[in-house]
Amino acid sequence: MCGIVGYIGDEQAAPILIDGLEKLKYRGYDSAGVCTNDGEKFIVEKEKGKIEVLRKSTGDGKKISGTVGIGHTRWATHGEPSKINAHPHLSRSGSFAVVHNGIIENYMELKSELSQNGVKFTSATDTEVVSQLLEYYYSGNLLDTVIKIMPMLKGSYALGIMYRENPDEIIAVRKGSPLIIGIGENENYLASDVPAILDKTRNIYRLAANEIAVIRRDSITVYDTDKNVVEKSVETIEWSMDAAAKDGYEHFMLKEIMEQPKAVHNTIAERIKDGKVVLDEIHLTPEQIRNFDKINIVACGSAYHVGVVAKYIFEKILRKPVEVDVASEFKYRNPIIDEKTLTIVISQSGETADTKEAMYEAQRKGSYAIAIVNVIGSAIATDANDVIYTLAGPEIAVATTKAYSAQLAVIYLMAIYFGDILGKISEEDYKNYVSELLALPEKIKLILKKTEDIKNIASKLFARKDVFFIGRNIDYALSLEGSLKLKEISYIHSEAYGAGELKHGTISLIEKGTLVIALATYEDLHEKICSNIEEVQSRGAYVLGIGCENRQHLSHAADSTIFIPKTCDIMLPSLAVVPMQILAYYMARFKGCEIDTPRNLAKSVTVE
Ligand code: F6R
Repeated sequence: MCGIVGYIGDEQAAPILIDGLEKLKYRGYDSAGVCTNDGEKFIVEKEKGKIEVLRKSTGDGKKISGTVGIGHTRWATHGEPSKINAHPHLSRSGSFAVVHNGIIENYMELKSELSQNGVKFTSATDTEVVSQLLEYYYSGNLLDTVIKIMPMLKGSYALGIMYRENPDEIIAVRKGSPLIIGIGENENYLASDVPAILDKTRNIYRLAANEIAVIRRDSITVYDTDKNVVEKSVETIEWSMDAAAKDGYEHFMLKEIMEQPKAVHNTIAERIKDGKVVLDEIHLTPEQIRNFDKINIVACGSAYHVGVVAKYIFEKILRKPVEVDVASEFKYRNPIIDEKTLTIVISQSGETADTKEAMYEAQRKGSYAIAIVNVIGSAIATDANDVIYTLAGPEIAVATTKAYSAQLAVIYLMAIYFGDILGKISEEDYKNYVSELLALPEKIKLILKKTEDIKNIASKLFARKDVFFIGRNIDYALSLEGSLKLKEISYIHSEAYGAGELKHGTISLIEKGTLVIALATYEDLHEKICSNIEEVQSRGAYVLGIGCENRQHLSHAADSTIFIPKTCDIMLPSLAVVPMQILAYYMARFKGCEIDTPRNLAKSVTVE
């Protein structure tokens, strides 16, 4: 989604802004722009397309003077990707400049009111209403004017604002979409996310919802909407730019695939003490845990797929009903939940608007929400009743890999922890689950050693037009993720089906050469999936089977195979997902796709 940067200090602003935007590229964008104040006037440069175009037209920003400025990468929502619709947006007389992330839901209404009062708009964006409102209602004080217009704006947004007559100030507003302030010495920064400013400072303030920051060269003051000063505590970022750098890999995605043993290890290591799962982050008493009669999981995309895996695991171990919802649908079906329902929210970014809204809806209905989140201090992490952080480190590639694996690791921890409290796990099973969990990082490493073999398979399959992923039980849950990974980065059409469901319609799409990827790791249904493999093969499909080592039956049934080490059945997804990620990566690479930033996608989806 859109990225915001801002700088105020003694250095030339534009090169810093453009470098910052470069580091936010991973969020997804289709145009970019900067606006500086040179002490007398605004200088605005915007370009459609890549940041390189903006670099070229501005000489890496050196052609633009001014030591204060705001910049933006836009991911189009209202109005096509174009120079005119790119941010920053100015008010009609050019005295206010605004960059915006999120959506102003009532912009049509505001636009029509302003237009009736003679205000002329130049872009098709929702953002322009903000700059126009600022000018229309300007009271002589920018902070007061911002506070005045905030209640008029419906939706979720983050804003960076400058007033031409005051080159000593940037105002930042957060209502929903994330925003951080980087604290420097006689210079300060504004950004949507840490990587944009990490080579400048490690000390930040994270704005909370409805906070407004007045950023000057030598001071940062944060206010609430009643203009009370809010005391913020400084957060020091511990991870380094190396963690957000490619480290010799051609793509972040491959680097992050390779980092999975570490991501899983870090996520579980501190939470298993003397053979016991310790989840100090959960503040529920055993009594409260026993009183839940249902679990409700909400998430989007890959995080939703973790939720589907979790349903199989929790129902198997805890014997409590589990509902999993795509977060964007949850709120609008008036879900039947109450204080006896435990809600689990899963999100890498902790900022996904749909997931956040679904969590609020569950909380409004009295449900206790535990969030599984990767980004520390993000909105979902802050607003959940409890948060369990995945310790995957920063994930830059748009397509998630290591965060998915770390989320699964938390699901296993929760299943063991709750299972024990509910008295549903025998001592022997408990020990076995814990030892298998501790062994996962090494087993993932064994699969990563097969990268060249999988690359070789990808080289033969990347030209296929349609791919079906099939599986049964937990393998079905995992096939959803395999299919998403492939389609989102390689643009190959792909669908996931319960293997038994295929013959109820979809099998009519199978013809000579259709690629079917059959997940056959789940022992109990091995024979059944092998029969499904034969069904599609007899209609011409080429089948790649993924199963546990020493499964002769699968070797005979499938046209080619990838084997993974054995583990207990609930943890199979953590191993079987890895070859599918590597396969998707290389199929996309052989096709020449832009792997880390696939078209139309954004890393952090902050609009509903
Ligand atoms: C797919 C992918 C997305 C995200 C989804 C939710 O590879 O990354 O489907 O999983 O947008 O994002 P988070 O986890 O940040 O809430």
